[in-house]
Amino acid sequence: MQHPRSALLNVMTAAAQKAAKRMVRDFGEVENLQVSKKGPADFVSIADKKAEEILVKELRKARPDYGFVLEENGDIPGKDTSNTWVIDPLDGTTNFLHGIPHFAISICLVRDSEPFAGVVYNPVQDEMYWAEKGQGAFLNGRRLRVSGRAHMAESLFATGVPFLGMEKDARFLQRLESVMKISSGIRRFGSAALDLAYVAAGRYDGFWECGLKPWDMAAGVVLVKEAGGYVSDISGKSKMLETGDVVAANDKIHAQLLKLVK
Ligand code: IPD
Ligand code: CA
Repeated sequence: MQHPRSALLNVMTAAAQKAAKRMVRDFGEVENLQVSKKGPADFVSIADKKAEEILVKELRKARPDYGFVLEENGDIPGKDTSNTWVIDPLDGTTNFLHGIPHFAISICLVRDSEPFAGVVYNPVQDEMYWAEKGQGAFLNGRRLRVSGRAHMAESLFATGVPFLGMEKDARFLQRLESVMKISSGIRRFGSAALDLAYVAAGRYDGFWECGLKPWDMAAGVVLVKEAGGYVSDISGKSKMLETGDVVAANDKIHAQLLKLVK
């Protein structure tokens, strides 16, 4: 039996599903465009914007007064200043562009400056993750719980690798080395929203990345917390959305991971 979802989460998942329909069609087209001389870059940026438009339209219909923080279109203040949608219409854009089926739509409701409800949807695998403060985290109706691994040696981590155009992060290689030496592996799948969802699902034991934007992580933060995990910024505080740094892990590993990447 599916766990009942709140009206708020129904609004969010329905919006994600609507945007996903078109996104999956566009992804099929991107696969065809790989061999063209120009490549699919322009097409993808249109697909990205279109998905964002659909999400804004659907969410606005249901909650007309809420504002938006959008990856593509910036901030749109709402009449209700305590509720803001923080949205990444396509997290994992580089994967999408290269025809790699690992990307997601990420929607978070930030209430009184705190991530309150989050939806992360991978439309290719039809994996819908959702969570609301105090209500638990779910994947397609199944309750999620972070992993129970307590030792670094048996733990699998995810991170992001800086790329062209990003600010130089002098500590990146040091952090990578310190974690890879003592863990069972590190993955770079290319969608921070899904990385956090995977921590919530107990697939990864932990994830860290620096230099993210609020929309990359806001929904995922709710997922991890509601699945019983810990999330902090790189200095162990809760200013992830402001600093852009995130360290998320199961409750047993978080302190150890934080010590290594601090
Ligand atoms: C990116 C992904 C990636 C992370 C980058 C983000 P985008 O978002 O989340 O995993 O490493 O820093 O910018 O550009 O695909 O929406
Ligand atoms: Ca993103």
